[in-house]
Amino acid sequence: MRVFVAGASGAIGTRLVPQLIAHGHEVIGTFRSAGHDLRIRALGAEPVALDVLDARAVRRAVLDTHPDAIIHQATALANMRWSRSLDRSFALTNRIRTEGTDALLAAARAAGVRRFVGQSFASYRYAREGGPVKTEDDPLDPAPPAAARQTNAAMSYLDRAITEAGGIALRYGGFYGPGDEGMAGLVRKRQYPIVGDGDGITSWIHLDDAAAATVLALGHDGAAIYNIVDDEPAPMREWLPVLADVLGAKRPWRVPRWLAGLVAGEAMASMAAESRGASNAKAKRELGWTLRYPSWREGFKVAYGSSDPPRDRAANDARAPTTSN
Ligand SMILES: NC(=O)c1ccc[n+]([C@@H]2O[C@H](COP(=O)([O-])OP(=O)(O)OC[C@H]3O[C@@H](n4cnc5c(N)ncnc54)[C@H](OP(=O)(O)O)[C@@H]3O)[C@@H](O)[C@H]2O)c1
Repeated sequence: MRVFVAGASGAIGTRLVPQLIAHGHEVIGTFRSAGHDLRIRALGAEPVALDVLDARAVRRAVLDTHPDAIIHQATALANMRWSRSLDRSFALTNRIRTEGTDALLAAARAAGVRRFVGQSFASYRYAREGGPVKTEDDPLDPAPPAAARQTNAAMSYLDRAITEAGGIALRYGGFYGPGDEGMAGLVRKRQYPIVGDGDGITSWIHLDDAAAATVLALGHDGAAIYNIVDDEPAPMREWLPVLADVLGAKRPWRVPRWLAGLVAGEAMASMAAESRGASNAKAKRELGWTLRYPSWREGFKVAYGSSDPPRDRAANDARAPTTSN
């Protein structure tokens, strides 16, 4: 297939492009920042400069490149300034997830592109009640903290718009991997404390496993939502000390929940204290996905420590689609 990857130069995009090419696809990869065309070309894809918020440019780029499939991985999270309001921090990403998705879907319709896969998010979105691990059929948080409402609404919009158009929304876990320093940087500086009893659960995913699932989703017929997360959703009190240890950082502080709310904002505090994890059973069952890093315990070591990566990728590589349309 000819695959148009919007946001090919980012954390997930740069892991995805080589896997797509390895499975026989031709890739057109879009970038936004000056110089990132070189990154895309070096990976073996054809670079195209694109702002997904410019709907006419999106339509032109898709019509000009004749793809069989579109994968939407654009976000504005790199170098994002965190504020106490998640909605303020995510404002541009929220537009990319709503207006950008609309522009890409409209371009797909105009160009007759039948396959569409988009980046959604699993961690911190499910209802903060009931069991610790949620499936795609479980309800999303009906009343997110005030400062996260627009962010949650944008992800729900993306899930709905893509599936109504017959595509696939992948609800990824929290990304980690070599070079992805977002969370690791804060833990190294001891700026990421355990909140309250550290009960909030995170579902993690190594970027290479996220990319492998995305390649498989491209070969799947029909609309669907999948949690793309690892096998071990875990409370903050478990994963954070392990990550600090792997990074050689001091043990994380513990702060009371009320103080976390005051300093980091209610949205961050509630994620840390109340969030639920996600189940990957449906993705494994329907996509035939296997994980190279089934647990963050091993994955963190490989990404940020000194141990060697597992050698055997054969299971995933054998299952991913290799044919062209
Ligand atoms: N996924 C989440 O919800 C989430 C939440 C919190 C933190 N994080 C962290 O944020 C990073 C997310 O990884 P990612 O791959 O989604 O993001 P990323 O590494 O920032 O990559 C985003 C991609 O979108 C492109 N882009 C940015 N603005 C665009 C626009 N207006 N139009 C078209 N393309 C645009 C970027 O191009 P250029 O590279 O050329 O600028 C890049 O290719 C990771 O470090 C992750 O740990 C993610």
